[in-house]
Amino acid sequence: MTGREKALVSKLEKEYSLSEAEYAELITGRDGETASRLADLAAAKRKAVFGNAVYTRGLIEISSICKNNCLYCGIRRDNAEAERYRLTEEEILSCAAEGHTLGFRTFVLQGGEDPYYTDEVLCGIVRKLKKQHPDCAVTLSMGERSPESYRALYEAGADRYLLRHETADAGHYAKLHPKEMSFDNRMRCLRDLRETGYQVGCGFMVGSPFQTPETLAKDLKFIETFRPEMCGIGPFIPHRNTPFRDEPAGTLELTLFLLSVIRLILPEVLLPATTALGTIHPLGREMGIRAGANVVMPNLSPVGVRKKYELYDNKICTGEESAQCRGCLEARMTSIGCHLAVDRGDAPGWKIN
Ligand code: 5AD
Ligand code: FES
Repeated sequence: MTGREKALVSKLEKEYSLSEAEYAELITGRDGETASRLADLAAAKRKAVFGNAVYTRGLIEISSICKNNCLYCGIRRDNAEAERYRLTEEEILSCAAEGHTLGFRTFVLQGGEDPYYTDEVLCGIVRKLKKQHPDCAVTLSMGERSPESYRALYEAGADRYLLRHETADAGHYAKLHPKEMSFDNRMRCLRDLRETGYQVGCGFMVGSPFQTPETLAKDLKFIETFRPEMCGIGPFIPHRNTPFRDEPAGTLELTLFLLSVIRLILPEVLLPATTALGTIHPLGREMGIRAGANVVMPNLSPVGVRKKYELYDNKICTGEESAQCRGCLEARMTSIGCHLAVDRGDAPGWKIN
């Protein structure tokens, strides 16, 4: 760690901010010592805000049908090999009921951009879920929709929305997505979600093709200025049936480094140690928490469909029952001196309507 890196780390620690050029410099010049210093500072911040509690969210993957064709994603439209499924309303409600018994108080409904989910259909599911479990938060992760749609879903009872921005650099965005998708619309969606009243999550893949320290610096500046309540980052992992099949995966080291930086920028952000991180290393999620993350998202999808929701190769937790995933994560968190928090785990200071 050179004097320059020390200066950048202490500026970040004190000011919760660096210039875009400084973020890029910190990423380019990073070494093991810088990473471990940042991880210590980030873990201390996490502890100051959340103690040893790690929030848990039950993930229900409701549909692998997607009209989009993102170049990195295993459920992209052009992947003719992908096995497509859509859960019925009854199946979704029964996954949630099982999750509720296991102690979960936040359910994340995630799926491809499946045209079946009109506002009417999705609002109906959200309403029933909230009626069945009034003590739970509902998070949606269903992609780009219109402002009216976001509003209708919010009024139906959805509390939070995850929409990774994927990259804050428009040129980079165009290299990861087909022409029909637009960076401006992605950003428009994030602003609409915020204005509607959701707790909003953005995020990106670490090590996606064409990513550079400069594009990452833009991601960090975007996170700093947008101030999301949640931020999902995990390594890019190639999927065999996508145009990026031969691209290298993102690294554990850079993912942990960025988790620490994000925790220092936004001490209160809800920051998951993702399944992708657990996929590239058997102890990835534990290391993620130690580097500053504070959320884990075990899978509550029916075991029969889990392998079909395959965004990337070798995804973990596809054979385990929900109860096993919960038990597994509890043990993993205990092993690093943390415990699973079972309340809704809203963003600190958030007022629930
Ligand atoms: N590797 C890692 N993450 C991926 N995602 C999609 N495809 C991949 C992949 N190959 C992420 C995207 C998306 C989220 C649901 O999953 O960032 O927003
Ligand atoms: Fe699913 Fe460990 S979290 S098996």
